[in-house]
Amino acid sequence: MTDLTALAAAALGEVAACGDLTALDEVRVRWLGKKGAFTEQLKALGRLSAAERPAAGERINEAKEKLHAAIAQRRSLLERAAIERELSAGRIDVTLPGRGEESGGLHPVTRARLRIETLFRRAGFEVASGPEIEDDYHNFTALNIPPDHPARAMHDTFYFPDGRLLRTHTSPVQVRALRERGAPLAIIAPGRVYRNDSDMTHSPMFHQLEGLVVGEDVSFANMKAALHGFLQAFFERDLAMRLRPSYFPFTEPSAEVDMSCVFCSGKGCRVCKFTGWLEISGCGMVHPNVLAASGVDPERFSGYAFGAGIDRLAMLRYGVNDLRLFFENDLRFLTQFRSLGT
Ligand code: FA5
Ligand code: MG
Repeated sequence: MTDLTALAAAALGEVAACGDLTALDEVRVRWLGKKGAFTEQLKALGRLSAAERPAAGERINEAKEKLHAAIAQRRSLLERAAIERELSAGRIDVTLPGRGEESGGLHPVTRARLRIETLFRRAGFEVASGPEIEDDYHNFTALNIPPDHPARAMHDTFYFPDGRLLRTHTSPVQVRALRERGAPLAIIAPGRVYRNDSDMTHSPMFHQLEGLVVGEDVSFANMKAALHGFLQAFFERDLAMRLRPSYFPFTEPSAEVDMSCVFCSGKGCRVCKFTGWLEISGCGMVHPNVLAASGVDPERFSGYAFGAGIDRLAMLRYGVNDLRLFFENDLRFLTQFRSLGT
């Protein structure tokens, strides 16, 4: 029993010298385990006299408790140090961009539409819309295309069993907008249209941009200036534009707007079907019958309208030579537009 103080001091010394949790556990087992020095001491109590035993036992327990406390303290110190080591080794910089995070982007047709909307808003136009599922009246009859009119055959219309249809052009919005807003007005109506038609420059679903300006002195010259101004602004360069006499039941006179082909600079290629030109829009002066069907007095008001292919405008602006690429959703194609402005 005499060397208990020395034993306790040696044990505390070892605890203080432990550099990690494994070493500390070894020290604990060596001193306090079943075969540990203090356990041996307790076993030796039996050899003492009954008078000596309580005091000796108390001293041993005191030393044991002190050692337990010292070990616990050392353990929490070593644990905290271990956590700090780990934290500083694997430091996280929360301001760094994430790895493997890919951002999406706007579809090129959407970009083109937004660009078109911005340019026309700047010129004082409002943006209108109408339903994609239309009735026969708005898609045809109100646009001066009565039921037996041959123009209906040219539209390759998708019909529903109840006689409604997927609109074949955005022109029905002319009628809806005039009925809702009245004259004078200046609107564009971009949107999806559907036709049973498919090749390099035609797709069964595509996008049109309707334009309609109705007022007291609106002329064909105003229309030509507006279309040319728009094309210059949209493409940010001088591209040739031509108006080719044409026919639409809902305009009179009517014309097709052609732009010189950007792929061959007008020399002729597969995309422009070797003509050097791409048809991008129909246009004309709103037919008096359409104004009347829309509740506008054709004696007082005149107007022009145009219907352009947004997909074709997007093809020309972004240099895409096959319309179908826009609708296949191949990421290798789409990601090329991710970082572009509109
Ligand atoms: C029309 O749809 C008329 N509503 C346009 C119009 C509006 C004329 C207002 C006068 C006044 P058209 O069928 O030509 O016309 O189509 C207009 C444009 O849509 C075409 O010049 C072309 O750019 C585009 N387009 C037509 N069919 C397709 C198709 N299948 N795929 C992609 N674009 C097409
Ligand atoms: Mg056409």
